[in-house]
Amino acid sequence: MSLTEKTVPQTSPDGESKRPSGRDRWPLAGIGFGGDYNPEQWPEETWVEDVALMREAGVTFVSLGVFSWALLEPREGEFDFGWLDRVVQLLHQGGIAIDLATATASPPPWLSRRYPETLPVDRDGRLFSPGSRQAFCPSSPVFRERALSLVEQLATRYGRHPAVAMWHVSNELGCHVARCYCDVSADSFRSWLSTRYADVGELNERWGTRFWSQSYGEWEEILPPRLTPAHRNPTQWLDWCRFSSDELLSYFVAERDLLHRLAPDLPVTTNFMVMPDFEPLDYFRWAKEQDLVSQDHYLNHQIDDPVPELAFSADLTRGVAGGKPWFLMEHSTSAVNWQPVNHAKAPGELIRNSLTHVARGADAVGFFQWRASRAGAEKWHSALVPHTGTDSKIWRDVTRLGGVLSRAADVAGTTVDAEVAVLFDYQSRWALDQPSHPTDRVPAIEVPRAVHRAFWDAGVVSDVVHPHSDLSRYRVVVVPTLYLCDDATAATLRAYVERGGHVVVSYLSGLVDEHDHVRLGGYPGAFRDLLGVRTEEFFPLLDGERVTATGASATLGDLSIDRWTELTRLVTAQVVAGYTDGPCAGNPAITRRDDRSGGSAWYVAAGLDDDGWCALLGEVSRLAGVTGMPGGGGGVEVVRRSGADRAFLFVINHTAGEVAVPARGFDLVSGEPVDGRVSVPAGGCAVVREA
Ligand code: GAL
Repeated sequence: MSLTEKTVPQTSPDGESKRPSGRDRWPLAGIGFGGDYNPEQWPEETWVEDVALMREAGVTFVSLGVFSWALLEPREGEFDFGWLDRVVQLLHQGGIAIDLATATASPPPWLSRRYPETLPVDRDGRLFSPGSRQAFCPSSPVFRERALSLVEQLATRYGRHPAVAMWHVSNELGCHVARCYCDVSADSFRSWLSTRYADVGELNERWGTRFWSQSYGEWEEILPPRLTPAHRNPTQWLDWCRFSSDELLSYFVAERDLLHRLAPDLPVTTNFMVMPDFEPLDYFRWAKEQDLVSQDHYLNHQIDDPVPELAFSADLTRGVAGGKPWFLMEHSTSAVNWQPVNHAKAPGELIRNSLTHVARGADAVGFFQWRASRAGAEKWHSALVPHTGTDSKIWRDVTRLGGVLSRAADVAGTTVDAEVAVLFDYQSRWALDQPSHPTDRVPAIEVPRAVHRAFWDAGVVSDVVHPHSDLSRYRVVVVPTLYLCDDATAATLRAYVERGGHVVVSYLSGLVDEHDHVRLGGYPGAFRDLLGVRTEEFFPLLDGERVTATGASATLGDLSIDRWTELTRLVTAQVVAGYTDGPCAGNPAITRRDDRSGGSAWYVAAGLDDDGWCALLGEVSRLAGVTGMPGGGGGVEVVRRSGADRAFLFVINHTAGEVAVPARGFDLVSGEPVDGRVSVPAGGCAVVREA
């Protein structure tokens, strides 16, 4: 196979990647601790100090050379590995494991000068320039060929070096350019479509092209969804999103396969961005192609709830990783540089953030970056070694964290106990977040976040998982705005309730099939029978409009509803709450159908606010026997990780006062035995190795 040939992800029929066992091993001992190391930005004398400081802090790994292509290959085909050899050797002598980057994340200036066709194009037809990073078209055969040639050199040279523990492919693929609209990409899109559909006729059917005279006569007429005068075709957009995610994935797989061939025992990963505001990659598909899932997370201070958002992102990362431990590749020791106002972390916050990731399944804690840069676009980004040096709040927290993580080594390999699941699907998100819908006031990420936050607030640990997951272990499954839903998902949920499970489905769920065609005969088409309701018409509310729904029993009380109402009729369900005013007054807002199995299926036909979700999920949890973590909730995260022979209770106190949580064992943070209750100071953490 030539280097430029694209490889389709190789998965077995059950969806699991086939790989030899050597790469299944976790690459680091204990809980890894480290971050991105960019020594090329510093004189060589600094490298010796770096390694000494890494040892002082307890750093166990670094991600090396992520943006070093221009130095490694200063001219096409001319390589300079001298400096990298010396860094690798120094790290090896210092006992620091290397997550070696393939360095393809930022092509050198010579590449686009010589091959301008490698530059990406945006939806409006504008060409991106070099001078930043990630300026490449994911479909470009020239880019792939040049990138793979570098990877081949690196793998051959370092693939058997004892300090190299794993590979780091590119960096945050899709972060800046996830969808390229150039002619090369258009060709690739057509060939992707031709494997998805038997012929143009089938494509016309699936895309509904009789509408607005869009019927295609031949493949060559089909284009990416570029700038159009009016609304684009929604299924074309959905397939474009699928294609763009698969296209970058095929690029990852090309690097991975080469690495596997040349360095068969080293695991390969690429750092994901499983965060609410990043949507272009279907990470559930991507995860199947990783030897281990790795993830970057940055607190977003532009939203109201950065703390529960961290928990959501970590729980979704764990869902993406199939419940297995995952690798936190990057987060920040303090401020970032790319938000309008870059909020610095309070003393202790970096430890709190780090342990929250570990509590929720991370077996490594990495940061961007080791030493704060002097120059370049990220010089105001925090690091483990700040500009100020080691006499600093950041360094004190860094070394403290290093100590805690080394004491918590046995946490590695354990898994997180969760009672409930929240379903999430990137493809449904692509379908829902399109124009020309009943309302644009409910982004697809919002209700999943609200549901997760309600559980978080109640001290209930939730998994955020793909709709095709095995749901049998959960007491409650919530289906929040799962707009696009295939028949398999509908069948899975039906079977779950028939076996006694409790399911809560929200509005804007089950409305269209996998081609984004409406399921006819009454909404929500895919779940009508499961829920025992039939909705006739939607009545979304205008901004500022609010209506009230009142619980049929006293426990729910009055619920304030905004953004969404709908005209629902009962078929086999009963009313849980009914609209008292607004366009749907007198009709159900929340319903419940009890199944013969003892399970139940609830429908939320109303735009609940946070209080409403808390009240409703509290009611469902009581029915389903969800207990939550004792002492958890209301700003105190309590999460258990357990294995066959050990269990650890994490307590993260986000409140301004000391809390006491039931526990017995030994606290690895304070170094004190715990006999009945662990006291955790304001803003502090505990990791109790349970007796
Ligand atoms: C990440 C990226 C790093 C660095 C960091 C800054 O998205 O992978 O290279 O740019 O952001 O927060």
